[in-house]
Amino acid sequence: MRLWIIGKRGLLSQAFQRKCQEKGIDYLATSRKEVDLQDVKSVKAQFETLMFTHIINCSGYTAVDRAEEESEAAHALNGEAVELLARLAKQHGKKMIHFSTDYVFDGKAEEYPEGAETAPLSVYGKSKERGEKKLFEQYPEACLVRTSWLFGRDGRDFVKKMVEMMQSQEDIRVVSDQKGRPTYADDLAEAVLSILDQSGIFHFANSGPVSWHEWALAIREKLRAKNVPLRCQKIHAVSTEAHGARAPRPKSSVLATEKFDTPHWEAGLEEVLSSVISSLK
Ligand SMILES: NC(=O)c1ccc[n+]([C@@H]2O[C@H](COP(=O)([O-])OP(=O)(O)OC[C@H]3O[C@@H](n4cnc5c(N)ncnc54)[C@H](OP(=O)(O)O)[C@@H]3O)[C@@H](O)[C@H]2O)c1
Repeated sequence: MRLWIIGKRGLLSQAFQRKCQEKGIDYLATSRKEVDLQDVKSVKAQFETLMFTHIINCSGYTAVDRAEEESEAAHALNGEAVELLARLAKQHGKKMIHFSTDYVFDGKAEEYPEGAETAPLSVYGKSKERGEKKLFEQYPEACLVRTSWLFGRDGRDFVKKMVEMMQSQEDIRVVSDQKGRPTYADDLAEAVLSILDQSGIFHFANSGPVSWHEWALAIREKLRAKNVPLRCQKIHAVSTEAHGARAPRPKSSVLATEKFDTPHWEAGLEEVLSSVISSLK
């Protein structure tokens, strides 16, 4: 078995690389410079030259707000590139694991099981939904994993943004009327490594649904417990409307995750904050 992890410096791809190293799983990871998924010739060539059994597609156009103005770019990577990969994976007999998001849902339900109908609100959500459809059209035996609110040791995410803001600002405003399940990228990678040969749709998210505001309060509490000096005195709860982000987001995008035993996000948050704090020293 050898995994081709698409993405090298992305949040999720780095978690996969770390887990593979820990478990002694053979893999190769490619950056956008090495294999650009929008370069059809180059992608086709990889199937002739690279030796691998499974594709772990950690690539994606993930800038949710920017996608509202860059619809074509979002669809190209989250839709068309997925279609190409799936077609080639099927032709060459490789397993394919692809990732999608809670933002394919409209947020009107309390929670969303794997079979729930998708109805994305944003361009990003629509582009991811397109990728899901193209994946299964080309490769019905593929594996699709939806996840939500990723955080991890690498890259930019909500946790690191909050740490920076809490160190530099007295008052912070955080949205309190959107609810979801934060997910530690390493927990997701670990779970996916246990279903590499499966087909169908899987939801994975850490347990403990929260609003962004509650998530921010939990981050501050942990930072205080670790005696990290913070300027932040008040974390104000604001509405989605008052916050005014460009892309519409679901009010509740809580994924139901019956197919996995999901750990709480608390241990993951502890690990990430320890690593962030040691990088501050
Ligand atoms: N972040 C979240 O909160 C979240 C939530 C739900 C679902 N997801 C899904 O989870 C997956 C991983 O997300 P992430 O947060 O880890 O993404 P990320 O940190 O933004 O990383 C994106 C990756 O895409 C690669 N990439 C971009 N353009 C490419 C191209 N043209 N060709 C090849 N590779 C390209 C980048 O390559 P380089 O390594 O070369 O930079 C990078 O590794 C995505 O499918 C995303 O939709 C994310």
